[in-house]
Amino acid sequence: MLSFDKVSKIYFSPSGTTKRIVDEIARNFNLDNENYDLLSFDDDKSFENELVIVGVPVFDGRIPEMAKNRLLQMKGNGTKVIAIINYGNLSYGDALLELVDLLKENNFDVVGAAATVSRHSLFNEIAPSRPDNLDMKMINEFSHKIIEKLESENSNEIFVAGQKPFMDYVNHSFNVNCDDDLCVYCNDCVYTCPTDAIEEDNPTDTNLDLCNSCSLCIAICGENARSFDGMNYYDEKQVALDNDMSRKEVEFFM
Ligand SMILES: Cc1cc2nc3c(=O)[nH]c(=O)nc-3n(C[C@H](O)[C@H](O)[C@H](O)COP(=O)(O)O)c2cc1C
Repeated sequence: MLSFDKVSKIYFSPSGTTKRIVDEIARNFNLDNENYDLLSFDDDKSFENELVIVGVPVFDGRIPEMAKNRLLQMKGNGTKVIAIINYGNLSYGDALLELVDLLKENNFDVVGAAATVSRHSLFNEIAPSRPDNLDMKMINEFSHKIIEKLESENSNEIFVAGQKPFMDYVNHSFNVNCDDDLCVYCNDCVYTCPTDAIEEDNPTDTNLDLCNSCSLCIAICGENARSFDGMNYYDEKQVALDNDMSRKEVEFFM
């Protein structure tokens, strides 16, 4: 029998796939859930007798800078945590190591870790239908193995792939286009943009000095009015599409 009060889910998920994976893992534990959405939650928080699941996407081989800064404010007390990084079928670089290290330093007990694969949020042509049924099956098997491990009270230190020093953060400077004919000025993008790069009185414009290309405004737009655009974007897209497109599978560490 597991003795947790609840499952606390911490996620940063601009285009929604990381949250789907964290939700799927949490479902296996049949406990009440609490949510910490790092796109808006920016506060100190400590965790005690609960199981924590942390999920973040990979941005350029690392965990997104904003997610990292917000995670640094979250402390465990020997609290058990499952660490997930979710990437767009290219490479997860050192992101899993970065996440696991951060959690260990913040006094969490990492009981399992995984690198999962989802549709690439910058280049939607890559892995368009991931996570799919096979991913979810593997993610559920992983969750059951974690439950068995927790019930057996066996513990071991988790080691994951990755290398230090970590790469520098990348500033993509992609244009974000908003089609005036499609935009209905609902301002959903204004209220959800985590960097306040879109202003209420002019939502079709994006302040590229503030934008971190996270893709949330594009994913959230109910009218499909927004899209990445510009030379930088199309050049990077071509480089991405020239990569090895073979299917990458979910990887587990426990
Ligand atoms: C700025 C940015 C950088 C990214 N860098 C990578 C990368 O280095 N490797 C990769 O495979 N996917 C990369 N991706 C794709 C995301 O990791 C992937 O689509 C993830 O599923 C997005 O999670 P979300 O749906 O929760 O936002 C990047 C996406 C963005 C927005």
